[in-house]
Amino acid sequence: MKIFKTDKNGLQEAATEIRAGKLVAFATETVYGLGADATNDRAVASIYEAKGRPSFNPLIVHVPSLAKAKEYVTFNGTAERLAATFWPGALTLVLPRVEGCPVSRLASAGLDTLAIRVPGHKLALEFLKCCDRPLAAPSANPSGGISPTKAQHVIDGLAGRIAGVLDGGSCPVGVESTVVGFSDKGEPVLLRPGGITQEALEASVGPVLSHTADGTTPSPGMLLSHYAPNAAVRLNATTKEPGEAYLAFGRDYDAIADVNLSVNGDLTEATALLFSALHFLDEMKFTRIAVGPIPEVGLGVAINDRLRRAAAPKHEKETVGT
Ligand code: TXA
Ligand code: MG
Repeated sequence: MKIFKTDKNGLQEAATEIRAGKLVAFATETVYGLGADATNDRAVASIYEAKGRPSFNPLIVHVPSLAKAKEYVTFNGTAERLAATFWPGALTLVLPRVEGCPVSRLASAGLDTLAIRVPGHKLALEFLKCCDRPLAAPSANPSGGISPTKAQHVIDGLAGRIAGVLDGGSCPVGVESTVVGFSDKGEPVLLRPGGITQEALEASVGPVLSHTADGTTPSPGMLLSHYAPNAAVRLNATTKEPGEAYLAFGRDYDAIADVNLSVNGDLTEATALLFSALHFLDEMKFTRIAVGPIPEVGLGVAINDRLRRAAAPKHEKETVGT
């Protein structure tokens, strides 16, 4: 697979592949996305195939501006405000498709809604403009695995299955976008915690429901086992057992740490390192990873969500398919 240059020529070359219906991975501020022309059914179908992703799990469509997003989905007042506050950035909005929406139905996995975002990464925005069409892009990893935050992670996971990757270096946020949908009454509902904290959302639009409280179904993609390294993961570990690698946060258990997500206890720094630390421990062939306690506030909510899924028994990938 090709590593495209990030200059004008490289971007044009990658965009030509997209317009021909091929798959190109690209850096965003959250994680690397596996991009395809969202208006091309066959291209979108090939995303599911390359990832081994269940076809009931819809994709996020990426556009370069709010104005473009309005060509595909209908905004309510709250959505408009969230977009104005957080775009470009790590927020995905799930909104009704406009009538005659040209985005492939496969990207919505048969739903009447579409997940959409404007990424906050210069390279991703330039690439979207070059392609001149919306890009469906899930995280660029085999389904169920750890999301990629470096081009090398994409190459390790998908070489031979995609046309290439646009290497934008390490992803600065490090976890996926926060996904927000809306209840029948138009209230915002948190469908997936991510790079924008619930506190930040609420400072902009007031209370945001959790999908469990709201009673609506969560994101179809919230499989219990996900983001999983090959190693078995043990959470809230305050000791390191023989044969385990220890992933620490802060100073408390630094003495037994193999990797520390942030010695200073900085959740932003820890988020940026999380997936690359899990990839690294896998490469080191650890079969068991113990993870120290991480506070359940701010970005800690997204970190703990990913770690709980990494720790879930892998057979639940098949059986928990909500
Ligand atoms: O940061 C991100 O969001 C990355 C980068 C590449 O943009 N993308 C990403 O995509 O994480 P993916 O496909 O791995 O996750 C998409 C999530 C899934 O949980 C999926 O179920 C949910 O969004 N989703 C997509 N369309 C939806 C819809 N119409 N209704 C509810 N949830 C939806
Ligand atoms: Mg993913």
